[in-house]
Amino acid sequence: MKLDILLGLQWGDEGKGKIVDYLSPKYKIVARFQGGPNAGHTLVFNNKKFVLHLIPSGIFRQETINVIGNGVVFDPVIFEQEVNNISEFADVKNNLYISSRAHLILPTHKLLDAAYEKAKAENKIGSTLKGISPAYTDKIGRNGIRIGDIFEKDFNLKLNSTIDNHKKILEFYNFEYSVNDLLDKWLVAIEKLKNYKIINTEYFLNNHLNAGNSILAEGAQGTMLDVEFGTYPFVTSSNTIAAGANSGLGISPKKVDKIYGIFKAYTTRVGYGPFPTELFDDNGKEIQQKGNEFGATTGRPRRCGWLDLLVLNYACLINGVTDLIMTKADVLSDFNNIFVADKYIINNQQCNELPLYLTENIKPNYLKFKPWGKINNIKHFENLPDSFKTYIDFIEKFTKTKISVISTGVDRNDIIIK
Ligand code: GDP
Ligand code: IMO
Ligand code: MG
Repeated sequence: MKLDILLGLQWGDEGKGKIVDYLSPKYKIVARFQGGPNAGHTLVFNNKKFVLHLIPSGIFRQETINVIGNGVVFDPVIFEQEVNNISEFADVKNNLYISSRAHLILPTHKLLDAAYEKAKAENKIGSTLKGISPAYTDKIGRNGIRIGDIFEKDFNLKLNSTIDNHKKILEFYNFEYSVNDLLDKWLVAIEKLKNYKIINTEYFLNNHLNAGNSILAEGAQGTMLDVEFGTYPFVTSSNTIAAGANSGLGISPKKVDKIYGIFKAYTTRVGYGPFPTELFDDNGKEIQQKGNEFGATTGRPRRCGWLDLLVLNYACLINGVTDLIMTKADVLSDFNNIFVADKYIINNQQCNELPLYLTENIKPNYLKFKPWGKINNIKHFENLPDSFKTYIDFIEKFTKTKISVISTGVDRNDIIIK
């Protein structure tokens, strides 16, 4: 009877989808608790690649139940596309339960996202433009529409009045838009959505826990994109941290056992916002190329840089990480020198904690590590090169947290358990 949580410790795309897919057989249920289709979680098995945006990454395991929790914001059009993409390989109608409390992303939320970004001009966030921020704004502002509302008599009334309000804002922003086609498609998707298992997932999940079954909560985005603790305002609009799993699923913190924190052996970021260890040289380009660092949702190139241990330590602290999972060290196989930042120098002062703003005058202090060569065919920790073990050991000591899983490639089975 326990809830384990897996979440990203950097700026997203740490490899959450791959690891959740790998771990799923150990759990009765995999549940998403926040975010929406801004997420892109990549899974590779049997030489096939899938990118999931809304559906949890346990969906390809037949014995695993998947849940979209109340904390998620849900786009029915993207959901339908996703179901079609995977229908040959997953039984979504049977294996997925959706919270009636999850809020809907309306077509006008996406338009508002675009209008706000345009108005921000050079200060824009680099949003995925999936309507995430306007949907959460309506939720917190008590103007949102929830999935359960689609069965209510006054649904159309509520929808029309919300869309009318959105249109007024779009007009205020002088944003040119056309919503009718989008709305027609959205309404068709809503009708299809009615065929899925829409339930009070908070009862469902707690009943399973009480019956002795275990649940894995799958985070989206990463700690540095959390609306409270990330690089605000260059963040997403939900709580991506461990605490988000409790409010986003309706499960007590008392039920939490392991908190898996996943990080890349280096750092990436999509969109705008500060990134102290970002590389603008050939090393950055090489990481991007070898790591195939292009956004799974928008295809945008990801900015790349060295591992930032201040970020990692902060994320371990905020989340209470019990087990670290490291991905993509194989990408650094051909590098002669590998660096990690262990402190910042700000105005000639050493700094071991993240300041409120990660401003441009931060100079990361780098430590150099020896190359480790190819690791992608190695299956057992003992067989890894000593130089790589030194890297692992250093991170464990620095974060005071054990690294229990190492991912060495894109495939489900490219995993070393330590
Ligand atoms: P997520 O959003 O955290 O699920 O991560 P993404 O799927 O957006 O990005 C991670 C990318 O790295 C995907 O293309 C994965 O297939 C890939 N990946 C995951 N783990 C590894 C690894 O250990 N090595 C390599 N080379 N690629 C990996
Ligand atoms: P996964 O789950 C990486 C980034 C966007 C933008 C900022 C706000 O795949 O790790 P939003 O669409 O939420 O308004 O965007 O957050 N972002 C992500 N970056 N991985 C993600 O998800 C992301 N989801 C949002 O690029 O900078
Ligand atoms: Mg991703």
